[in-house]
This record gives sequence, C-alpha cells and structure tokens, in this order.
Amino acid sequence: MQGIITIDGPSASGKTSVAKLVAQRLGIPYISSGLLYRAVALMCLLENVSAEEIEHKLGKYRLELRPTPTQNLVFLDGHEVSAALHSLEVDQIVSAVAVRPAIRQYVNDVLRRIPPPFVVDGRDMGSTVFPQAQHKFYLTASPEVRARRRVPERDAAFETVLAEIIRRDQADQQQSAPARDAIILDTSHLDLDGVVRAVLEHIAPSS
Ligand code: C5P
Repeated sequence: MQGIITIDGPSASGKTSVAKLVAQRLGIPYISSGLLYRAVALMCLLENVSAEEIEHKLGKYRLELRPTPTQNLVFLDGHEVSAALHSLEVDQIVSAVAVRPAIRQYVNDVLRRIPPPFVVDGRDMGSTVFPQAQHKFYLTASPEVRARRRVPERDAAFETVLAEIIRRDQADQQQSAPARDAIILDTSHLDLDGVVRAVLEHIAPSS
C-alpha cells in the first residue's frame, strides 16, 4: 500500500475512528486533518485574537502533527497540545478559522509535507488536498445520529451537541462537498465495524 486513502465527511460522522481502524488494518499511519484547524483555533484562544488576526501570526508558531499507530500528537512550538483540541470552545471557533483561505493554505502545506502512505480524514481531503488519492470515501449520517455518537466525547447535553453539529454543518458547507469520485457511505445504520468493513471491501474486494 503506497498511496493515500481519503475519508471525508461532516463533523461526528465517525471519519476519524474509521480512518484509524482502516489504517491499523492496512498497517499504515492515519492523519486527522481537523486537528490542524483545531490547533489554529487554539492559537486564537491562546493569543485572545480573532480568526482574521491569527492569519498574521501563523509564522510565530511551529505546528507539527506526528502520527503514532494509535493517535495523532499535535505540537505547537514543541509543546504537545493534543488534549486541548477537542473542547467546546475550540468547536465553537474552528469553523471561522477554517473558512479563511490563507489558513486553509497553511494547513494544506503541513499535510502535503507528510510522506505517504497514510489514511487521512477531513472535509476536502479527496476533493482538494489529495485529488490524486488512490481511494476516496465520504461518510454521511443524520445530525441526530452524529450528535448521539458525540455526546460521550463532550461534557454537554444531547441538545447542545446537536445544535453545535447543525451549526457547524452550515459553517463548513463550502469545503464539505464530496469529491466527484468519492464512494459515499451512509453510516446511519452501521456500527463502526460495519463501516470499516465496507471501506476495506472497496479497497481490497474479497472474491
Ligand atoms: O474533523 P473535525 O471535526 O475535527 O474538524 C474540525 C473543524 O475543522 C471542522 O468543523 C472544519 O471547520 C475544519 N476542517 C476543515 N477541513 C478539513 C478538516 C477540518 O475545514 N479538511
């Protein structure tokens, strides 16, 4: 397996969990591109500035993503910040960060420097960042199903998580269209194992 496999989809569609397991099965790293947008959102919180203002400060930080077999570690200037990237505060500002072209360019440059093979998840990995990818998938599920999956990961009520997912779907619409050659998988009625099996079956069909 020498290539790149992209797994895109809206927030809480399960793409990171699927990417991680598919990568493990194939014995290659996985990369969660959303972490890099989250790291830029964290920079805004640390500097107490807006998404627009952080654009001018990107050069001040050295942003690194190091894949390990079980997780992605994110470093800002050598300090590991992975644990701070999944808060509701970051959820709330990350879309405003991700909509800015200069920030997208910055994140895409970090991603394109990572040597293949890998499985990468995000919104526009198959459509924009890695159009040459060998296999492209796009996961979907209803907002309610996605909110139910996400509640255990956030210290918040179902309604709060659902409202946040619907808001982020709207805010991320621009960069979230599936690649034309992506395989679209509706995961509403599949468990994690079922989605992983479906993806692996497309990559290497059993006869
Ligand atoms: O995937 P995750 O939910 O962690 O992504 C966080 C945010 O980063 C998304 O809501 C979106 O605004 C942005 N993002 C993006 N393009 C990607 C990955 C993430 O715009 N490829």
